[in-house]
This record gives sequence, C-alpha cells and structure tokens, in this order.
Amino acid sequence: MLNNYKSGYSLSQCFYKDESIYDLEVKSIFHKHWLFAGHTSQIPNIGDYFLFEISEESIIIVRNKKNKIKAHVNVCRHRGSNICSEKYGNKKLLNCPYHAWSYDLDGLLITARDMPSDFKYKNNNLHSVNVELIGGFIFINLAKKPLSLYNFKRDLNKTLDLFGLDDLKLVMHKSYPIPANWKLAVENYNECYHCNPSHKEFSQIHMMGTDNKVFKKRKNDFHEQNKGKLKFAQFNCYYDYAQTGQEGYQYDRNPLKPGILSGTVKGSPAAPLLGNLTEYDNGASELMLGPLMFFLLYDDYIVGYRFTPLSLNNCVCDIFWFVRDDAVENIDYEINNLIWLWDTTTLADKEIISNNQKGVNSSFYSPGRLSLMEDFQKSFLDWYINTLSSYTGD
Ligand code: FES
Ligand code: FE
Repeated sequence: MLNNYKSGYSLSQCFYKDESIYDLEVKSIFHKHWLFAGHTSQIPNIGDYFLFEISEESIIIVRNKKNKIKAHVNVCRHRGSNICSEKYGNKKLLNCPYHAWSYDLDGLLITARDMPSDFKYKNNNLHSVNVELIGGFIFINLAKKPLSLYNFKRDLNKTLDLFGLDDLKLVMHKSYPIPANWKLAVENYNECYHCNPSHKEFSQIHMMGTDNKVFKKRKNDFHEQNKGKLKFAQFNCYYDYAQTGQEGYQYDRNPLKPGILSGTVKGSPAAPLLGNLTEYDNGASELMLGPLMFFLLYDDYIVGYRFTPLSLNNCVCDIFWFVRDDAVENIDYEINNLIWLWDTTTLADKEIISNNQKGVNSSFYSPGRLSLMEDFQKSFLDWYINTLSSYTGD
C-alpha cells in the first residue's frame, strides 16, 4: 500500500479506513513528535492540572510545588486505573480512586497500603513525559528520546520574542469534534485551495483567500518592502524538509487584504499589540511546530490550532485564542469580535472535512491529482508515507 503511493495525488482509501495503519501512525507519529498540550495560563496555581488526551493516551499536565510544569501518564502503577478523571482541577496529591495509591505532583509514589516487604516505592512512580515550554505554550513528547527542538529555537527565538510569547493569556478555548480521520483535518489545514470557495469570511481578511497569482505577487512585494525585518523571517523546515533528528517547523509572514489590521469583522484591531510590536503591518504570521500544531500570529492576538486523533474515524480540532496577559476583557478586547473569524472558519472546515470522509469511504473513491495550490499538503503526504515506510519499531 505504501509502495503504491504516487506523490502529487491524495492517499488511497486504506489510509483512512484501516485500523492497522492507524496503529502504525500511533507508534510512528503520535508517540514520536512534539504535541501541543496547552498553555501555562490554564494552570496558574500550584496543584492546578488539566488532561491532554490523544488516541488511547491520557496525560496529566500539572504545576508542581516548585512552580514547574510537569507531565505524567494518567495510569496508576498498581493496576493501571486512570488517576484523574476530571478534565481539569486542582490536587495536592494525585490519588488513585481505585485502591488509593497516591503520588505527589512530581509523580513520586507516596503511599501504597499493605504491600509486600520487597515492594520498592521508587520503582513505581508515575511515568513522566518530556515537557518543553515555548513561551507559555506547553509541548509534550511521549518518546524516550524526543526529536530535538534545537533548530526551531535557534531560528525562531528572536522572531517569536517580538510577539511576547512569555506574556500571553488564553482567553478562549473551543473544541470542534470532527467525524473524520485526523489526516483529512490536517490536509485541509495545509491547503488554501479551498479557502476561496469555502471561507468567504477568511477571504475578506486574508490575501491568501484570493486568486493565487494575485496573492503571490502581493506576498512578494510585502516581503520586499519589509526585507531584513525579524518578523519577516522565513523558515520552511516542515514535514519532509525537516532535518533528521529535528522536529519539523515553519515560520512565514503573509499579507492581509489592503487596509486590514487584524482578523476581525471589520479588519480593525482586536486587542492591544502583542509583546514588543509597535505597529500593525497588515500581515499575519504562520507558525507550525510538529505535524499537528499550527499558530496564526496577528499583531494583536494569536490563534492556535491543534488536530488531535482520537481514533481511526474521529479527531478533534481545538482552537485556542491568546491575547497579551495584561489585556482586560470588554475594555481592551471583546471576545466575540476576537473569535469570530476562526470560529466561523472552523465550523465551515468541520463540515468540509466530514463530507470529505464520507466521499473517501465510497467504493468509487480513488486518489485524485493535487492542484498547484496544494504543495504544502503534498509535502505532508510525502512525509507521512515516508514516516510510515521507514518506521523500524524503536
Ligand atoms: Fe490505582 Fe490500584 S489501580 S491503586
Ligand atoms: Fe479551511
């Protein structure tokens, strides 16, 4: 099936319907790459936690007594019960509800009743997973030896500092469950061939939603006019362009429609300027880290998109809206104005993606030729096939 893949075409049906392929994706993709779990502003106090769930895995993201963010697998070391069942909360200890073993916020086993004399507490701590903070964004990685984020940080730290990533707060988080295979959701995000026909709101704000030639010309001019500025850096190290051993990433800045300053109904500002920015420049930056997480950085707010596989046929798209942390609701920003564009666009995408899955399930479906506007998607598919083909089981 992998050998039959033709670059420049969509995938064969089996990649959207076969459980054994999904199992391989879990091992070779979801357990290998950096995953966006959430934001530090969701757990401001010691003991605050939330759960991040992907496929069969549940991870407790918690702030420990030293104010550090930790991530533990939500599986008791006694007989495997989930420890936390509420999606978020505050805990002094992580107590298993089944037989009452308890762990501290660092995942160390503290109490286990009536155990044999040779039982070793130190061998029964919770499994912890790797955590990296990019500003306040919490990324986790389930691998023993995670892909390096060195290149990402080297190339983008200074640019991302402009947007004040350390000083953001999450002001809205919405989940959009999609009855489709996760790849159809990621593929849809990765191409703007559908933007013009499917997203009139997006197309009134973003140049990318217009004719491709017009967009390319405007983008060229936009970069010429702003040459040398940190904000206009370009790094295309995503998917099959990622260096071996490094996590994939991308940063690019794209023009908005003439006169548009931000992603709002009238194109006027949504919130105070982020970080060290001093002006609106009629653009928005795309940022991606890992295969499932994308950010869009306007000058005054940031939107995060996370695609999380739940099973072969179901995924969820989570959208996170961030503004600077000293902005005050109803004075500095109005939440409906802030979420309008990406709530509307994501609801439309949910529909498109669900319809795509229905068609792909048909016995008449066969891989179709990609357009010139789907080169990012092509890169995703090439990388995807290569990732599954080269997986060796480690
Ligand atoms: Fe957790 Fe038994 S499964 S204490
Ligand atoms: Fe879309």
